Amino acid sequence: MTTFLPSEGGAALVVVANRLPVDRVPDSEPAADAAATAPEGAERSSTASGQPAAPPRAAQWRRSPGGLVTALEPVMQSEHGAWVGWAGQPDLELEPFDFDGIRLIPVTLSAEDVELYYEGFSNDTIWPLYHDVISPPRFSRPWWEAYVTVNRRFAEAAAGAVAWGGTVWVQDYQLQLVPELLRELRPDVTIGYFHHIPFPPYGLYSQLPWRRQVLAGLLGADVIGFQRVADANNFTMAVRRQLKLETKGNDISVPSSDGGTRFAHVHPFPIAIDTTSYSELVRRPEIIARAKEIREGLGNPRRIVLGVDRLDYTKGIRHRIKAYGELLAEGRIDVSETILVQVASPSRERVAAYMQLRDEIEMSVGRINGTFDSTGHSAIRYLHHSYPREEMAALYLAADVMLVTALRDGMNLVAKEYVAARADNRGVLVLSEFAGASDELTSALLINPHDIEGLKDTIVEALDMPPAEQARRMRAMRRRVFKNDINAWSSSFLDALTRSRERREAQAQRAALSVVDA
Ligand code: G6P
Repeated sequence: MTTFLPSEGGAALVVVANRLPVDRVPDSEPAADAAATAPEGAERSSTASGQPAAPPRAAQWRRSPGGLVTALEPVMQSEHGAWVGWAGQPDLELEPFDFDGIRLIPVTLSAEDVELYYEGFSNDTIWPLYHDVISPPRFSRPWWEAYVTVNRRFAEAAAGAVAWGGTVWVQDYQLQLVPELLRELRPDVTIGYFHHIPFPPYGLYSQLPWRRQVLAGLLGADVIGFQRVADANNFTMAVRRQLKLETKGNDISVPSSDGGTRFAHVHPFPIAIDTTSYSELVRRPEIIARAKEIREGLGNPRRIVLGVDRLDYTKGIRHRIKAYGELLAEGRIDVSETILVQVASPSRERVAAYMQLRDEIEMSVGRINGTFDSTGHSAIRYLHHSYPREEMAALYLAADVMLVTALRDGMNLVAKEYVAARADNRGVLVLSEFAGASDELTSALLINPHDIEGLKDTIVEALDMPPAEQARRMRAMRRRVFKNDINAWSSSFLDALTRSRERREAQAQRAALSVVDA
């Protein structure tokens, strides 16, 4: 077994995620748009012959949207934190660089790694399997081999970055083997893993040909966090059935390399959003003005219905559009009064199931608009783009009804963002009971997206809801969303890691004393 020595001045806290928390600013965009430049983030470029190519350029980066980095920023800055991840482009070799006080450690993925590890095993095996096999998962041995290789690369990068006795927090399904691989390299560190997507029921999980290896990979962590109680229970059940390990409450006894036993603590930590920044955003006069402008641009409809999703088959976009089309056909929605705005941000565009979904959605939107549009009004405004947070906040403010119709979703942060944005206590959230957010947002109008008639009735109920009832429901949801914000979420996970470290140290001390006694 190779043991890694920590690098001099290693970080006390290292986050490991498939992606770095920054996006590269395209060369076509002016440098002024970049939040910062990274002078040390120079590319190690070379020609095919191995000769150095053009002199290295300083890359420009801006922070990618997402609450995780916002939540971790203060603790990362005070603990000299580091973030290990992929820069999002194939074959990009970059030196580590600092950004907003955080050390970023890029992991290179070749074009083949992207195809086999990212598009293949992560997004065409694990993603569909863990989301109720809505799309059939594909099991490929070369994909699995690439997943093992790339997970090892991430584990080695983390092992080289973390200080002696430090903490490593691994994120999400692309990196399920990292906890065990890292523990082999660095037994001194405390390891956390958070799973952002659902963990499937045993009957589905057991289809995975590498089911035992993946469970063993995750069990390398001291704390394993899930979104919902059901996910944590599904995981524990899989461990009991497949590995025959003993579980007691939230703890799993795992045999350790020294012949003893260690504990892996399994717990739900429902992820949250940066509520304060949303409520601050929607109070800005320019955002309020932009919401008005959006409404005017849509022809001043009486009602705006909104959907915001990555273009993914788990989100139930087809079901939503079907229900909406039927409401128009039955005359229960009038195109001159109501419009559906569907933002579908491009995602995983080289995976076949995503290409097919895009074709299907665009065909139904085209059909519905062709049938119901008038010269002055559109039935559906379909936008295949991503937007900055400011524009999203304005859209949320403009929307009378928000539709979240996921067939399966770990949490769904859009639902929480909509609630955080509605400081005016107006608007109605229609929320799928198959999204993790429905555990907390019980005052939403909860739906089963497979029940198209039920979904249609609920959309009409939302459109007709009196303002007093909108306010009552919105206030209750806002209390929940503000109480468990992203800071509360990350602190509760990091506290669990601290408790786990203390427990491990106490266990080691007891073991040392018993040797002395003997
Ligand atoms: C989900 C996953 C994340 C992932 C994101 C975007 O939210 O839980 O791990 O980063 O989708 O997907 P992408 O494949 O573009 O990273």
